[in-house]
Amino acid sequence: MEREHFKSTFGILVAMAGSAIGLGNLWRFPYMVGIYGGAAFIFVYIILTFLLCLPILFSEIIIGRRSHTNAFRAFGTLAPGSPWKWAGILMVATPVIVVSYYSVIGGWSLEYLFKACTFSFSQGATREELGTIFSGFISSTWAPLLWHTAFMLLTALVILGGVNKGIEKFGKIMMPVLFLTVIAIAVRSVTLPGAGEGLKYLFRPDFSKITPEVCAAALGQGFFSLSVGFGIMLTYGSYTRKSSDIAFNSTWTAVADLTFALIASCAIMPAVFAFGLNPQEGPGLVFETLPFIFANMPLGGIIAILFFIALLVAALTSSVSLVEVGVAYLTEEKHLSRKAATWTVSGIAWALGILCSLSFGSLSGIRILGNTIFDFFDKLSAGWLMPLGALIIVVFTGWKMKKSDVLDEFTNGGSLKGNLRISGFIYFLIKYLAPVAVLIIFLTNLL
Ligand code: PFF
Repeated sequence: MEREHFKSTFGILVAMAGSAIGLGNLWRFPYMVGIYGGAAFIFVYIILTFLLCLPILFSEIIIGRRSHTNAFRAFGTLAPGSPWKWAGILMVATPVIVVSYYSVIGGWSLEYLFKACTFSFSQGATREELGTIFSGFISSTWAPLLWHTAFMLLTALVILGGVNKGIEKFGKIMMPVLFLTVIAIAVRSVTLPGAGEGLKYLFRPDFSKITPEVCAAALGQGFFSLSVGFGIMLTYGSYTRKSSDIAFNSTWTAVADLTFALIASCAIMPAVFAFGLNPQEGPGLVFETLPFIFANMPLGGIIAILFFIALLVAALTSSVSLVEVGVAYLTEEKHLSRKAATWTVSGIAWALGILCSLSFGSLSGIRILGNTIFDFFDKLSAGWLMPLGALIIVVFTGWKMKKSDVLDEFTNGGSLKGNLRISGFIYFLIKYLAPVAVLIIFLTNLL
C-alpha cells in the first residue's frame, strides 16, 4: 500500500508538536502540579520525560516507521502470527476514550473564548463572582454539552473537510501566538503582588513530597502531554521518511512540549497564590485563574481573545490526531468510507463525553471505583491504558524486535553518527529501564 509521507522535517515537527502541545500543557499540567506538590512534581516530571517518555517515543516511531502501517496492524506486521497483534486494539481504543473527555475541556475553552469575545473578563468582576460563574457553568446541563458538541463537530469537520492543510497552516501561525500570549500572561502573573510564593512553589522542590504516587502521576502526565503510549506517534512514525532523524524530531517535540508546560505553570501558579486560590483545585484551576489575570492586565481583553483562539487551535490539532487513529483503523481495516469512519469515531467519543460532562453536575453522584465519571476516564487513560500501551511498546521494541532492526531505524542504517554514539544507552533504556520503571508505576496505579 502506498502511504503518504511528510514532505519535510518541518512538516513532521509541526505534526508531532501539534499533537503534543494542547490542553495537556495549559490545562492539565498546571493543575497536576497543584495537586501533586509543586516543584517536586515538576522535578520528577522533567526527569521522567527524558529518561522514560522520550525512549518510549523513540520506540513508537521506530515501530511505526519499520512497519509502515497503521497502529492496529503494526505489531502483527512486525511479528506475524504472534499474539502481539492484539496490542493493536489497545492502540486504537485508548485515543477514543481520551478524546471523549478532552472534548469536554475543549468545550469549556470554547465557552471561555465566547466570554472573552464578549469582554466578560474586563469588567473587574470579583474572584468570588468569577468562581461562581465557572462552577455554575460546568455543573449546568446544557451549556457544557452544547460546547462539547461544538468542539467535537469542529474536530470532525477538520478531519472531513480535509482542511488538515488549512489547520496546519493556521497552526503554524497560532502556535507562536499561543506561545507569546502565554508568556505575556506569565509576565503579568509573576509581577502580581504576592506572586513570589507561587514561584517558590514552582521552583523550590521539597523532595520529601516525592512519593510513588507523585511519580505515577508525573509519568501519566508525561504520556498524556507527549501523546505517547498508544497509536498516535506510531502512526506519525509510519508517515515519516527513512531519511528523517527519529532522535532529533522526538527530542525537539519533547523540549517544545516541556517548555510550553513550564511557561503555562508560570502563568497560572503565581496568580493562584496572589489571588489566594487553592492550588489543589483540580481541573477547574486554569479556568478559575485566567479570568482574574485577564481582568488585571493591560490589554487583558484582547489578550484573552488571542489566548483562547490559540488554545482552541492547539486543542483541535490534538483532538484531530486522537480521532484520526480510529479513522485510519476503520478506513484501512474495516473499509469504511472516510466520512462514515469520522462520524463513527466522533459519535462514540461524543456520546461518552456527554457522561463526562454531566459528571460535573447531574451525574456527580455516580462513582466508578470512587471517581466521578470524568475522573475515571482520565485515570483509566493516563493512569492505566497509556502506561500499559507504553509497556507493550517498549517490551515489543526491546525484546521482540531484532536489536539490529531497532538500531538500524534509530541511526538510519548507521549514517547518523550522533545517534550511533548514544544508541547503546538508548537501547538500554528501552530494553531494561523503561519496562521495569513503567511496570512499577503501572502497578502503583492499579493498587
Ligand atoms: N498531548 C495532548 C495535549 O497535551 O493536550 C493531548 C493528547 C493528544 C493526548 C493526543 C494524547 C494524544 F494522543
